[in-house]
Amino acid sequence: MIFPRFRIKFVTHSINLYNSYSATAQSKFPRRIFSGIQPTGQIHLGNYLGAVSQWVKLQQNNEDMILSIVDLHSMTLPHDPKTLPNSILEMTATLLACGIDPSKVILFQQSMVPAHTHLSWCLGCISTMARLAHLPTFKEKSANLKDVPLGLYIYPVLQAADILAYKATHVPVGEDQTQNIELTQDLARMFNNRFGETFPIPHCIYTGSEFSRLKSLRDPSKKMSKSDPDPKSRICLNDSPDDILKKIKKSVTDFTSEVTFDPDKRPGVSNLISIHSFVSGRTVEEICGEVQNVNTGKYKLQVAEAVISHVQPIQKRIDDLMSDEEYLAKVLKMGAEKATEISENTLDEVKRKLGLQFRIKSAHQQKINV
Ligand code: AMP
Ligand code: TRP
Repeated sequence: MIFPRFRIKFVTHSINLYNSYSATAQSKFPRRIFSGIQPTGQIHLGNYLGAVSQWVKLQQNNEDMILSIVDLHSMTLPHDPKTLPNSILEMTATLLACGIDPSKVILFQQSMVPAHTHLSWCLGCISTMARLAHLPTFKEKSANLKDVPLGLYIYPVLQAADILAYKATHVPVGEDQTQNIELTQDLARMFNNRFGETFPIPHCIYTGSEFSRLKSLRDPSKKMSKSDPDPKSRICLNDSPDDILKKIKKSVTDFTSEVTFDPDKRPGVSNLISIHSFVSGRTVEEICGEVQNVNTGKYKLQVAEAVISHVQPIQKRIDDLMSDEEYLAKVLKMGAEKATEISENTLDEVKRKLGLQFRIKSAHQQKINV
């Protein structure tokens, strides 16, 4: 599989609150990467470019990496219990088909590891309602709901628990997750300051500006999203060649016919160039140089062709893997065992620090104390 020379951007959000947590403390925690993806809907190119392909790249660098299919997060909006099991298996197959290797990273289903929800409660007790209400992902997802589920409101706390249960130092995500990771940083700092140093302050890793926020094909002012009601707004990894062609042909560009890269003034065509650059492994400059005399209508056909030839082998691998559900279940079980071991250690430490555990003194010690 070809990956373009994308740059990985590390972002350190410095927040001056809670500054008693020193920079030297950070170096005590070995580098560990954690990320998650919801098993709802199909992976689209935004997920693939913004998150999954980064994970594959990080895996190639032999990073200590833990990846979770976050099924508990997918219950924060109404879900169908009949289709969820297949979605979990399909997400597992998709990640493997994209290049995730379960012998190199820990890949597991979130609900199989109890420490996540337990730690989430502990962190929830130091979170404030005002802080959670301001998070953009909550505002976006709750905007059209009459009755907002409590789970949707507190899911960033569960996300913080996902990350902190493994003392992860880095979190590769798309840019839409930035504020959720900032909440994780704040909670880690607050916990450390109140109860003693326990967690590293995790940092986001982004693929690079063009890929960290891929735009909707129907409205390039919005991000490509699983929750967009219009399926033509996104290209999914399992779309047929015909659908991919139709969606790209119909994508919204502008009235200028040349192909030029200018994400601010020409977001539609620039989004297509970003996609093209990623799937072909060529730079934006190389592509723009080659298509100087091509109009946007013809260019769309080239982009569609490049996308189709990139996703077809992945689709074939997904189909093959889906025919062996036992293997997929085994991968998730093995991952859950490893994840449980690590996260239970963290939970023990957290419980001790919160005063939830007591040490029983021997009769002899008790007499001395008297
Ligand atoms: P979700 O679809 O919300 O489960 O997102 C899974 C991962 O894909 C997260 O790391 C997101 O930040 C990333 N992601 C989602 N949409 C996009 C997008 N349009 N561009 C880049 N990354 C994205
Ligand atoms: N909230 C993320 C999303 O909607 C998914 C997620 C859950 C996640 N837990 C995580 C991402 C921990 C990174 C780290 O895409």
